Amino acid sequence: MIDMTRKPLLFPLLGLVALIAHTAHAADPDDMVKYRRNVMSANGGLMGACNALIQNKVEFKGAVGNTVAGYARALETLNKDLPALFPKGGNGADSDAQPDVWSKRAEFEHRARDTQAKAAAFARAASGGDPRLAEKFKELSDSCKSCHKDFRK
Ligand code: HEC
Repeated sequence: MIDMTRKPLLFPLLGLVALIAHTAHAADPDDMVKYRRNVMSANGGLMGACNALIQNKVEFKGAVGNTVAGYARALETLNKDLPALFPKGGNGADSDAQPDVWSKRAEFEHRARDTQAKAAAFARAASGGDPRLAEKFKELSDSCKSCHKDFRK
C-alpha cells in the first residue's frame, strides 16, 4: 500500500528535477546575445560615468566614498572573461558581432586579455589614488575601441 503521508513530497521534488533540467539546458543564442549586450552596455555606462568624473564634468561623491574606484572595480569584474560571452554557436540575428569573433578566435581572445589587464590596472589606480588615473582610463578606453574596430559591425 502507498504511504499517503509521503505523497506531498513528490510534487516539489518533480519541480526541483524540472528546474535542474532547465538550468542544464544550453543557453538560447538569442538570450546569450541579449545577455552580452547588457554586459557591454554596462561597460559603456560605467566608462561614460568614469569619464565625467575624471574630467571633472560633474562633482559627485556618492554615498560610499571613492565613486570612481567602485565603478572601476565593476569594470574589472565585467571584463574578466569577455570570450565567455561569445560561446560557439552564440551568435543570434540581433548581434553586431563579426563572424571573426569565432573564426579569428586567438586574436579575439588576445584583445579580450588586453582589456582585462587594462581594466585591472585602472581599478588599481582608482583605489590607490594613483595620479596616472586619467592615463589608465584612456588605456582601457583605447583597448575597448581596438576590439570594436575589428570585431564589431
Ligand atoms: C574582445 C572584444 C571586445 C572588447 C575588449 C570590448 N568589447 Fe564591447 N563589444 C564587442 C562586440 C563583438 C560587441 C557586439 C556584441 C553583439 O552585438 O553581439 C560589443 C558591443 C558593445 C556595446 C554595444 C552593446 C549593445 O547594446 O549592443 C557597447 C556599449 C560596448 N561594447 C562597450 C564596450 C566597452 C566600454 C568596452 C571596454 C571596457 C568594451 N566594449 C570591450 C567586443 C568587445
